Amino acid sequence: MPHSATLGDPEDGALRVDVEAAASVPRERRVYLEVFGCQMNKLDAELLLGALDDEGYRVTDRIEDAGIILYNTCAIREQAENRVFSKVGGLRSLKRQHPDTVIGILGCSAQNHQHDILKRFPWVGIVCGPGEFLRVPELILEARRRGQVAALDLEKPVHFVRKRNLGPNPYQAYVSVMRGCDMACTYCVVPRTRGPEISRPVREIVDECRALVADGVKEITLLGQTVNSYGKRLGPGRSVGLHHVLHELDRIPGLERVRFITSHPRFMSVELIDAMASLGTVCEYLHLPVQSGSDEVLRRMRRSHRIDHYYRTIDLCRERIPDLGIATDIIVGFCGETEKEFEETVELLERVRFQNAFIFRYSERSGTPAAEWPDDVADDVKRERNQSLLDLQLAIPAEERAKQVGTVTEVLVEGRSKTDASRWAGRNRRHEIVVFPAEDGEDLVGKLVDVEIDRATSVTLFGKRRAKAT
Ligand code: SAH
Ligand code: SF4
Ligand code: F3S
Repeated sequence: MPHSATLGDPEDGALRVDVEAAASVPRERRVYLEVFGCQMNKLDAELLLGALDDEGYRVTDRIEDAGIILYNTCAIREQAENRVFSKVGGLRSLKRQHPDTVIGILGCSAQNHQHDILKRFPWVGIVCGPGEFLRVPELILEARRRGQVAALDLEKPVHFVRKRNLGPNPYQAYVSVMRGCDMACTYCVVPRTRGPEISRPVREIVDECRALVADGVKEITLLGQTVNSYGKRLGPGRSVGLHHVLHELDRIPGLERVRFITSHPRFMSVELIDAMASLGTVCEYLHLPVQSGSDEVLRRMRRSHRIDHYYRTIDLCRERIPDLGIATDIIVGFCGETEKEFEETVELLERVRFQNAFIFRYSERSGTPAAEWPDDVADDVKRERNQSLLDLQLAIPAEERAKQVGTVTEVLVEGRSKTDASRWAGRNRRHEIVVFPAEDGEDLVGKLVDVEIDRATSVTLFGKRRAKAT
């Protein structure tokens, strides 16, 4: 049974790679890889591992055994970036001990800091941005010849043929529909690190999904920074949107569930909402970051939506898709955020009653427009605001979930519960965690089962299995 390397955070599950196989190749072909940041970074890492595997490299989970050390980095907040740079700083002595080790900084921080990384850490051999990660096998060879190499082009489309699903489990997969971001939110580093939006052709996406389903995948999550603006600049003539992809995927036999993240409020078209409402495979789940409840703050953030529009979108979605679970992202303490503006965010959370809210303290990112303005909300105020939203977000989903007691929900079983091995855990179509008792001798991993809910907390639904597994 292959066991996984240290890839990704345990919450999201690690990639499935056979780390034992590393013993069969020499040190120069053993790769140690750590992944930070969003699902896109994780998917990039997965595709890169496929490419490295094709070239005869094998993954190890022991950094001291690796001839190649790679970090797929995230630049979204300062903390994320500092964590990786302190790891890279610590590799100096390892490089001294094993001078032929190739250390590579990939992903968003690589793109963000470019050649500065090579200057700051002379023991780093590769700097490679998110647009060129598939070139890493060739860059390894080049770094061995030349010492230091950089690959930072963001404008070329990334072409790949997915040969296997190395994702956290064999029945769920991520599929990228677009790369980059054309928006210009003033706090955000992503347009700088991932470049302009490039959509993949519908056919390519559908073929990839078909192959994954043929390989046993039941649930696919489509990825894009503004996934619902998908289709821009895709050929002349007929306009293409995410709803076209959803309609195509709905026709694939064996595909049970489709999700897509992350949507931008500005691009929630009626066609997309209709597709969500009418297609059996599309899950009742929408991740729609709002960032703030104040129009003034949204204006300063250059978010191209206003609160009124956001409420209207939510109302329309809920009217058409009654079971919809809605998640959001919030930034507290953005430049100049007053108490009154913050209170408007509190009101928004109380009014919308999100199933889940990811709450972040504003972190200034150099090179973004907001970095020109004073980061003037004190740290302790940011912390307080963060905490009060977290407290609110603990209470609201708990109340909402309590209403589900007595109902039946369909669960895709992912494995045993982390806190209680005598129970199964999985997610329902709304992306809520559901836990229920396991019976002797049964293996439900990867199966869809109906669970009757008898208890709920702020993060979990508990219940008993109803019908037979499919
Ligand atoms: N493309 C997605 C978000 C990608 S970044 C979208 O636009 O919806 C994920 C989240 O990180 C953002 O939604 C935002 O809430 C947060 N974020 C981005 N930049 C940030 C910064 N400088 N400080 C704090 N949080 C930030
Ligand atoms: Fe960043 Fe805004 Fe693009 Fe999202 S839409 S990635 S927050 S610039
Ligand atoms: Fe981080 Fe880049 Fe994703 S900055 S959140 S890894 S797009």
